[in-house]
Amino acid sequence: MCGIVGYTGKKNAVPILLSGLRKLEYRGYDSAGIAVSTEIGIKIVKLKGKVRKLEDKLLSYPLIGNCGIAHTRWATHGKPSAKNAHPFRYKNFSIVHNGIIENWKSVKDELISLGYKFTSDTDTEVALICFYDLYKKLGINAAITKLTEKLKGRYTFLFIDENKPNEIIGIKSGNPLVIGQNSDAVFAASDITALLSFTKKAYFMEDGQFFVAKGGSLKFYDFAGKKIEKSSEEIKWDVKEAERGGYKHYLLKEIMEQPDSLNRVMSGRLNLFDDELRESIAPKGRIICTACGTSFNAALCFKYFFNMLTGRSVTVENASEFRYQPFDLDSDSLVIVLSQSGETSDTKEALSIAKMAGANTLAIVNSWESSIARMADNRIYMNIGPEISVASTKAYSAEVMILYLLALRIAGEMGVSKEKLQIWRDRLSSVPEICTHYLSNITNIESIARKYYKNKNFFFIGRGIGYPVAVEGALKLKELSYIHAESYAAGEMKHGPISLIDNDFPTIAIAPDNKQRAVLFSNIEEIKSRMGQILLISDKKLEGCDILIMPEIDSWLSPFVYILPLQLLSYYIANLLGNDVDQPRNLAKSVTVE
Ligand code: AGP
Repeated sequence: MCGIVGYTGKKNAVPILLSGLRKLEYRGYDSAGIAVSTEIGIKIVKLKGKVRKLEDKLLSYPLIGNCGIAHTRWATHGKPSAKNAHPFRYKNFSIVHNGIIENWKSVKDELISLGYKFTSDTDTEVALICFYDLYKKLGINAAITKLTEKLKGRYTFLFIDENKPNEIIGIKSGNPLVIGQNSDAVFAASDITALLSFTKKAYFMEDGQFFVAKGGSLKFYDFAGKKIEKSSEEIKWDVKEAERGGYKHYLLKEIMEQPDSLNRVMSGRLNLFDDELRESIAPKGRIICTACGTSFNAALCFKYFFNMLTGRSVTVENASEFRYQPFDLDSDSLVIVLSQSGETSDTKEALSIAKMAGANTLAIVNSWESSIARMADNRIYMNIGPEISVASTKAYSAEVMILYLLALRIAGEMGVSKEKLQIWRDRLSSVPEICTHYLSNITNIESIARKYYKNKNFFFIGRGIGYPVAVEGALKLKELSYIHAESYAAGEMKHGPISLIDNDFPTIAIAPDNKQRAVLFSNIEEIKSRMGQILLISDKKLEGCDILIMPEIDSWLSPFVYILPLQLLSYYIANLLGNDVDQPRNLAKSVTVE
C-alpha cells in the first residue's frame, strides 16, 4: 500500500511529483524516492524516511526533467531502508511499484541462475529485472504480456526508459491506478488526491490494462498488447478538500468536519436511497456485513440498530476471516461491504467471494470509482470528500449513517410502519446539529487527556449500542497513541478481564441512556471496588468517576455523538505523546495487501 505517482509533460516533473507524493503519503511513509529523465539520463534520489526529507535532499541535489516517477513506501518485502527504497533502476529502465509479487522468490532464483545480481531485498527489483530480461528478448509490448503472465499477486508499476525520454508506461493488475490528463501533460497516481491540483479529467485503469504516455499523448492497451479505447471522467472532489484548512492536523479537521460530512451523507437520502437503489434490496435470505478495522466497527452498529428495528439479525464478519469461511450464501443473500478507501484487499476479496456465490452485493465506499465500488452490484458513496488522516473518523460516522438509513430502507420493505420509519428519519436528521452543538461546547477533553496520557493500558466498556462505540474508541486510542486498549462488552468483565484492574489500568465507560445503563453502572461499581479508575462518557454523572459529559440524546444516536469525545481524547493523548497523529507508525490508509 505504497503511493506511486508519475508525470510526463512540458513542466519540470520534480515539484509535481513531490506534491503528488505529499498527497499519497498516508498510504505509507517508510521511504521516499524519485526518478527523473534529465538531459543526462535518468537520475534517482531516494532515502529512508518521509517525503519532506526527500524534499530537503532535493534542495541540495536539484533534478530537472519533464518526465519522472516517484514513490512513498509501506514496507512489505525488505525492511524500511535506503537500499529497499524505490525507484529501482536496471540498465535503461527505472520502476516504482505498489503491491506484492507473491511468486517473487521463484522468479528471483530463476534470474539469479541467468546471472542477474540484486541490490535490494524487494520483490519490486525482481519485477524490474524480470521485465528487462523479457524486454531484451521480446521488445516492450510482448515483454509486458509475458511479465503479467509470469508475476502472481496484486501490483501496479510505473516504468520510465532512458532510451525513450519523456515516456511513461503504467501497468495495473489488482491495485489502484488512475490517470489524469490536461492539455499538455499526463499524470498517473495510486489515487485521485494526487491529481486534484493539476486536472479534473481522469481515466480509471482496470486490471489487465497498461498505458503509454509521452508529453500530453496517452494510449491504452490490454495485456495482450491490443489497443483499447477508454472514456475519461470528471473528478468531483475539489483540491481544497484535500488541504488541512487551517487545522494543525488532518485528523482534527476531519473530526470537526463530521457535522458537515453527515449532512452531505444525508443530502437527498432521506428518501432511503430511492435514486441509488432502484430495485428492492431487502433479501429473502441472510444479511452479512463485512469489512476491516473502523469500517468493521461501523458495521457492528448496524447489527444492533437493524435488530432493534426489525428483530432480525445481521451477521457481521471481519473480511480477513470471511474470505476463508464457507458461508451458505446464495442469490437470496445480501452482502454489504464497507470501505473508506475502496481498495482494502481483504474486503475486496470478500466481495468477490460473495459475488461468486451469487449473493446480491452492496458496497458503501468513499473513494470514488475505487475497485470495490466498481465490483459491487450496487454502491452507495459517502460523498464526504477525501479522508487523509490514516485514522478514520468522518468515514466512520458516515458509514454508520448510511447503514442506519439502509436499515430503515430494508425495514420498510419488510413492512415496518411508515410512521416508525418517519420517527427515525427525523431523529437522524437532527444528528448533524447535535454534533455541531457538542463540538462547539467541549470543555475538558484536553485536561482529561493530560490526566490519563501516561497510562499504559485502558479498557473500553459498553452495553447495547454503547458496546460497538467502545470497540471503535479503543481502536482509535490504540492506533493513535500506541497505548494498549481493549474493548469489552461490560457484562464480560467479570468473566476474566476484571482480574487486570488496578489503579494503573483505567476504564473508559460508554454509557448512553439505554435500557442496559443501570447494569452498566453496577459493572462500573465492581471495577471501582477494585481501585479501578473510571472515565465516564455519559449524560449522567456517577460518584467517583471522571466524566466527559454528553448531551441527552436517544441512545441509538450515540455512535455519531459519543464517538466524538473518544476521537478527540485519542487525538489529544497522541499529541501529548508527541506521536505523528496523521501518519501513525506502522500504519497505512489503504491496506492493499493481505
Ligand atoms: C482506521 O482508523 C484504520 N485506518 C483502519 O482500521 C481502516 O479502517 C481499515 O484499514 C479499513 O479501511 P477501509 O475502510 O478503507 O477499507
